[in-house]
This record gives sequence, C-alpha cells and structure tokens, in this order.
Amino acid sequence: MAAVAQKLPAPWRLVTLRRLSSVPRLKLHTSASPMMGVTVQQFDQAKDRLSSLKKDPGNEVKLQIYALFKQATQGPCNTPKPGMLDFVNKVKWDAWKSLGSVSQDEARQQYCDLIGSLVAAEGGSSAHVAARPAGSGPAYETLLVTTEDDITTITLNRPAKKNAITTEMYNDIIAALDQAAKDNSVITVFTGSGDFYCSGNDLSNFTQIPEGGVEESARRGGDLLRKYVKAYIDFPKPLVAVVNGPAVGISVTVLGLFDLIYATDRATFHTPFSQLGQSAEGCSSYTFPKIMGPAKASEMLLFNKKLSAVQACELGLVTEVFPDSSFQSEVWTRLKVYAKLPPKSLSLSKQLVRSVERDRLHAVNDAEVELLKERWTSDECFNAVMAFFQAKAKL
Ligand code: COA
Repeated sequence: MAAVAQKLPAPWRLVTLRRLSSVPRLKLHTSASPMMGVTVQQFDQAKDRLSSLKKDPGNEVKLQIYALFKQATQGPCNTPKPGMLDFVNKVKWDAWKSLGSVSQDEARQQYCDLIGSLVAAEGGSSAHVAARPAGSGPAYETLLVTTEDDITTITLNRPAKKNAITTEMYNDIIAALDQAAKDNSVITVFTGSGDFYCSGNDLSNFTQIPEGGVEESARRGGDLLRKYVKAYIDFPKPLVAVVNGPAVGISVTVLGLFDLIYATDRATFHTPFSQLGQSAEGCSSYTFPKIMGPAKASEMLLFNKKLSAVQACELGLVTEVFPDSSFQSEVWTRLKVYAKLPPKSLSLSKQLVRSVERDRLHAVNDAEVELLKERWTSDECFNAVMAFFQAKAKL
C-alpha cells in the first residue's frame, strides 16, 4: 500500500506513521457487566485509578482520556475553537471535538475501558474500573477488543483520524478476528470510537518509504489486503457491523461480507475509489452488484456516490437504521438477545450460507488485489494521494 511513496517529493517520503510506543497495547476481556451501563461509582473509580498509574501513557492517550472525560461529563464539544497560537488548548479542543455526538453514556463506557486497559497493562486488576474489565491475551494499540455477554467487540480506536486503518491496524484486525473466531463468544461485532465508523485506508500508508521499490511495496500491500479480506470471508461466526457514523472505503466494501449491519441514521457510505485512482476491494466488485444490482453498485464503485444510511438500507447493504439518539441502546439490547441463541446452530448456519460462495469470494479477492497492485503504482493514484495531503496542509 506504500507503493506511491517512492514517487513522492522528499518531504513526503519522510512521512512515516508515528508509532505510539508509549501506549500500552490494549486488549480487554470482560465479565457480565452491562454493555452501555457504567455506574457513577465505576466512573469515579476510573478517575481515581488514573492518578495511580505508574507510567505516563503518552500524550496521545492522555488526550484521548481528556476528550472522553469532557464528553462524559459535559457532552459534545460546543465551546469556541481556541486560536491557532493557543496550541495546547487547540489540541485538546480537537481531541474533544473529534468525539462528535458520541453519547455521554458511551463516553463514560470508553473512558472506563481505556483506564481499565491502562491499569491492566501495568499488571494491575482492571476489575474495579473497567465496565468491561481487562483480561489476558494479545493486545492492540489502536483497537479495543472486549468480550461481554457472549459478544466479542472489535472497536477501531483512532478517533482523531476518524479511525483510518494503518498497516499495523490491518494486521491487528486480522489477529483480533482470529482470536474472536476461537474464543467463547457467540457473535463478533465491529464498531468505531468517536463520531466516525471508519475513514478507510489510512492514506499515510502510501507515504511511507518502501523497502525494495514501488513494485515490491505494492506486492506487500497486496498480500496484506488479500489476507485482510480473507479473514472476513473465512470468519466462522456471525459478524455484525455497528456502524456508529460515516464509513468510507474498505470499511464499506467489506460490509458485503458481514451477516448483519446496523447503522445510525448519521452514517453515510462512501467508496471514492476512482476519485483516488484506485479500484474496488473487499469483494465489493462481486457483493455490491449482487446486493443492490449492477446499476446502483456502479454508482457507488465507479462514480463515488455517497449513500445515506436510509439509502443504503433501501438498497440492502444495511440491515436496519436507528435514530442516533437511541442507536447504541437499541442495537446492543438486540445483540445481547441474539448472542443467547445456540452458538453451534448460529455458526453452522452462517458457514452453510458462506460455503455456497466461499471459493468465488476468494477468487474475487485475488482479482481485486491484482488490479489494485497495478493501481497503487499508477500516476492517477499518486496524484490523488498527494492532492489529499496537500489540501490538508493548506488548511
Ligand atoms: N487517511 C489518513 N488520514 C485521514 C484519513 C485517511 N483515510 N481520514 C481522515 N484522516 C485524518 C485527516 O487528515 C485529519 O488529520 P489532521 O487532524 O492531522 O489534519 C483527521 O483525520 C481528521 O479528518 P478531517 O478531514 O479533518 O475530518 P473531516 O470530518 O473534515 O473529514 C473525512 C473526514 C473522512 C471525510 C476526510 O478526512 C476524508 O475524506 N478522508 C479521506 C478518506 C478516504 O479517501 N479514504 C480512503 C478511501 S479508499
């Protein structure tokens, strides 16, 4: 995915993804506390435990904690934006603002989860602070993985970047799916933190210095993408998307491989591939025409048409749309009921449905990856990525 980097002018070539080395890798396993029900006591305990952390979690995490605390206690950020020279307050304001309309309940939940995971990463018990207490197992920097009420939830957790998926996150999601396939949960849920579901492939992936040249870089990107989509095709349990806000690119295309898609009425669905000089992935070149018919699929995949949640539902891409105000409570209430269904029956039925098309989906995945490898080395793609970052730089 970094294939255009070699063509970039020198300053761009130096752009690499900043690794949050000071941030503990997060993995949460949970007991039977309610998904959206953090008590005042739990929230207060989380605040207390924050000051007892031995290690500085780093600025990025501290900003996230600050933002979640403000959102939890005051709701969405409505204060005026600090001036450009008021650097510290501007960064804090940006972090809070990036949570958009996330409810105070959800922010309290995420605050407790985050602090619980930090406590657990230092070897302490998170049980007193996290509504979804942490357990053992692999952990991730930009994913929150929780298991509760027989549901494993994988939350993309990079709200400041609208949950854009970095190379590392692709690998982590593959690992999280593998883990979810093997754990005791009955269904697996994908969602995003903050006001976005996901803004798709992190375009910075294209600006890293490639080792071995453009072609080699495209080959590696292609291998990763193939493996990523394969993880969805072969996932053995019911897979649910809780689309909590706008969705872009690969987060939309893989939806054709999910079993259930619930969306807030704030969500939009956008696949701006031709705009980026790229082409469809996630098996969408096959699943989208099948789901919505070729004419509507072309509008999305070729002509970048952005769908509202209601339109996506009418076309069959989304199962059901909920008002944003009641989205979380309605969806989780329903999912908890579904997760009590007999697990074997659920997974075997899912696999039966998938078995009809599994081979075809793998073949489609292969073909899409081959085309994309060519696209990533094209001038069209290079120019589009440059344009995105140049526009940002001018702001
Ligand atoms: N890759 C890299 N960075 C991204 C990103 C992506 N896909 N999506 C968002 N970001 C970053 C922005 O650069 C910005 O970073 P900054 O704060 O350091 O400037 C931050 O996330 C917030 O995004 P911003 O653009 O300020 O928010 P917005 O609400 O105005 O717009 C989007 C959100 C998602 C519509 C817009 O960022 C966008 O179009 N992103 C690109 C989406 C895309 O093309 N994805 C690939 C599809 S194949």
